[in-house]
Amino acid sequence: MRSAHRSTAAVLTILLATAACTTVPAGSQNAMQTAAMGEAMVAPILTSADAVDELTFAQPQIARVTHVNLDLDLDFANRNVGGTAVLDIAARPGADEIILDSDGLRIASVTDNAGNALPFTVGERVDGMGEPITIAIGDARQIAIRYDAAMDAGALQWLSPEQTAGGEHPFLLSQGQPTLNRTWIPTQDSPSIRQTWEARVSAPEPLNVVMSGLSGGEPVDAPGNRRIFTLAMDKPVAPYLIAIAAGDIEFRALGPRTGVWAEPVVIDRAAYELADTERMVAAAEDLYGPYRWGRYDMIVLPPSFPYGGMENPVMTFLTPTFIAGDRSLTGLVAHELAHSWSGNLVTNANWTDSWLNEGVTSYFENRIVEQIYGKERADQEAALSFAAIENTLAEVGMEAPGTALHQPVNADPVGSAIVYDKGAYFLRTVESIVGRERFDAWLRQWFDNHAFQPATSAMLLEDMRRNLVRDEAEAQRLQLAEWIYEPGLPDNVARPDPAAFAEVDAAARGYTADRRLDRDAWASWSSAERQRFLAEIPRDLDAVQLPALDSALDLSASGNNEELFLWLDLALANRYEPAVPFAERFLAQVGRRKFVAPLFETLMEQGEWGRTIARRIYAETRPGYHSVTTGTVDALLQPRS
Ligand code: BES
Ligand code: ZN
Repeated sequence: MRSAHRSTAAVLTILLATAACTTVPAGSQNAMQTAAMGEAMVAPILTSADAVDELTFAQPQIARVTHVNLDLDLDFANRNVGGTAVLDIAARPGADEIILDSDGLRIASVTDNAGNALPFTVGERVDGMGEPITIAIGDARQIAIRYDAAMDAGALQWLSPEQTAGGEHPFLLSQGQPTLNRTWIPTQDSPSIRQTWEARVSAPEPLNVVMSGLSGGEPVDAPGNRRIFTLAMDKPVAPYLIAIAAGDIEFRALGPRTGVWAEPVVIDRAAYELADTERMVAAAEDLYGPYRWGRYDMIVLPPSFPYGGMENPVMTFLTPTFIAGDRSLTGLVAHELAHSWSGNLVTNANWTDSWLNEGVTSYFENRIVEQIYGKERADQEAALSFAAIENTLAEVGMEAPGTALHQPVNADPVGSAIVYDKGAYFLRTVESIVGRERFDAWLRQWFDNHAFQPATSAMLLEDMRRNLVRDEAEAQRLQLAEWIYEPGLPDNVARPDPAAFAEVDAAARGYTADRRLDRDAWASWSSAERQRFLAEIPRDLDAVQLPALDSALDLSASGNNEELFLWLDLALANRYEPAVPFAERFLAQVGRRKFVAPLFETLMEQGEWGRTIARRIYAETRPGYHSVTTGTVDALLQPRS
């Protein structure tokens, strides 16, 4: 995995950090480094060993990108994005090289301000990282790169008209996190480095272009029936947060600073589902301080988008599969909004600490849900989250290194329940011990004092010890370091209120005992309760029980994709033939990895019956998936050795 190049860089960084640490405290060290870079208003770089990002080739302590100016054309015929990137650079005095991240970028030229060519080399490819581009900048501190995106750039998905809801126009969407933006933007692609950016993007009529930045106004007409859109992000962001989408989309205001983009045939349903957004922003501000990004808009994408949501600043990207018609799955929106603090404002310095983004956000999400929908719904969603932790721990064991919040390098991945749900339960536990008032004051100052900066587990631990923990006795009760660094689940965990699912758990026991089903109860339940019921009933069901369940609860026709997914997974796990056409339709429509991968995995576990079906369906549906989803499913369907 790691090249010689990387280890040298890592060692160098550690050496620099160690040398600096012996003489100056962390804060002033950063300030000095910033001053030494000779540029005003450059965010500090963390130099401690645990802050090193092993997934970038960049050496930001030597030279780093501070601003990216993109001038790009979207070429739908050739499925290419190309143009020019002008990079502003802050460098140590005397530094004459900068290293950028690339993953297949096709570089035509690099020039300085005067148009002189600057020599560059493309280094050896490293799996999972791409390749370094080392540019001899001399004393240039602004450079222009003419380039095209990688062939089949992993961040980008080009949809044919048939893959959209409207069916008439093509669509483009991007997904940058964690390391995909290096397939279409030549910059330093690390969450520890922040950059402002601006873009001029041309697209064919009548497509609209949105990005994770504020619009510079109406598009301008250009030759060849094209229009040029101007967008900018004037706050320094980590480069994984640069995103683009283009399609036949329209805008609908939801409130004074909130709105939604979607295809015309989706916009009404999207706007209805998202009607609580403006109030969510206000609730989030009441909890943890001002929303610092200006507008909060969203785009509801075609169903091939590989995630539920992505917190692209000022323009959250959303799957349409959260639209249930009753706002029951809008915890997703609360989640992406919460990232405007945890993730976008305070950012994990590297991906071993992604719980700082996702766990803190999942906690914050639940607080917004409580504010907007009440404690009952929040408690139910928290109880589902706790079940996810328990399931993962039961599956991989309490000792698995990947069950620590701070992910050890090279630990086997254990799925999202640790980083998201254990992360959230850590903060719930701290809250329950110190009390909500003190906890909220602490979290708010954490966001304020680290705004627009990277952070690590060690920094959060230190910050809690300094600004939250009252005395040694309280420290003992909190078990902070165990929560962050040890596998398993500390025994002080604030367990969910069993009352949250009392009724539905009783119903699941009734079904388990004598296949008793109560349609009226089901109809009265929240979506969280229905999901709980589907998770709690026996996994082994027969050819009489499955159709009885399906018809009593109308599962195959469910308009709620979380419930439909749980049903299809259960049905396929029991080799229930009548569910196959429904699963096939779902997998042909939806590219969200969280749904697609488990369904294929379940099929693959069903011997020849399931493997044959999986291969047949995947041959048909694969071309419609984003690289994030094909990457996972390809591995699942590979013949096992
Ligand atoms: N930032 C994540 C998506 C992500 C994580 C992309 C890691 C790439 C690497 C986003 O905020 C997220 O967590 N999405 C969830 C939402 C859910 C937890 C409410 C999803 O997509 O399911
Ligand atoms: Zn998230």
